[in-house]
Amino acid sequence: MHPMLTIAVKAARRAGAIINQASQNLDLLTVTKKMHSDFVSEVDGAAEEAIIKILQTAYPDHAILAEESGARGDPKKSEYQWIIDPLDGTTNFLHGFPKYSVSIALRHKGVLMHAVVYDPNMNELFVASRGSGAFLNDRRIRVSKRSKLEDCLIGTGLPFRDLTHMDAYFGMLKDIVPVTAGIRRPGSAALDLAYVAAGRYDGFWEIGLAPWDMAAGCLLITEAGGLIGDLQGNGTYLDSGQIVAGNPRVFSSLLKIIAPHLTPALLEAQRPGECH
Ligand code: IPD
Ligand code: CA
Ligand code: CA
Repeated sequence: MHPMLTIAVKAARRAGAIINQASQNLDLLTVTKKMHSDFVSEVDGAAEEAIIKILQTAYPDHAILAEESGARGDPKKSEYQWIIDPLDGTTNFLHGFPKYSVSIALRHKGVLMHAVVYDPNMNELFVASRGSGAFLNDRRIRVSKRSKLEDCLIGTGLPFRDLTHMDAYFGMLKDIVPVTAGIRRPGSAALDLAYVAAGRYDGFWEIGLAPWDMAAGCLLITEAGGLIGDLQGNGTYLDSGQIVAGNPRVFSSLLKIIAPHLTPALLEAQRPGECH
């Protein structure tokens, strides 16, 4: 394993231990509302601090983009930037609904190089390094081979904070439900993407994600042989937060179904340079 990935794994496991311990006493947590349907607890902060401490001890010059504490350092100067979601699926966590994860990715000169998504409930560790494939608990993973949509299980995320694109999203959902085997919305985008990489889902789409929800999962998918794009299949997804992913066949089938639902507002949000 590349030394930088080893450090990321150490950080993800440390955060997972903090999350697991806190999950034993959910009633004791102080929960704050960041905005409508956006909750945060001291566990998010404690997990993030632990991750950053481990990364910064090993690589003091690297820049960081973390959900709770924001950006540190200048990614242009340091060339390396860690992108961290210490607890992806906070709402699930707070309800004792066991679908959440820790997501850590490293970009070098803007290119994703290493990725970890860790599910502390299942002790499932998904890792990837550019050019070296994707792994789940040391076993190589690949995207599924299914090509007929009617056989496919598709993951998604429902809009729940920013409802701007709700009608467009439900138009997509209405067209995707009847032609696939089923839809799932567990509530941790990082884990959803890891599941695409592992072939558990055949495809995935969501509108309104942040870079820390996606960065690690995106590298897992490409290293597992899958494709990712924005709602038109282009490369702006990390900025726009609009994402379609899947095995190559399912990726293009989903794009075709989504295309008629692309409103001017969605297209505008996907333009290069637009930041989610
Ligand atoms: C959320 C989860 C969820 C997705 C939301 C994200 P958080 O992350 O990934 O699946 O639908 O858009 O914000 O807030 O729990 O870290
Ligand atoms: Ca998240
Ligand atoms: Ca989070």
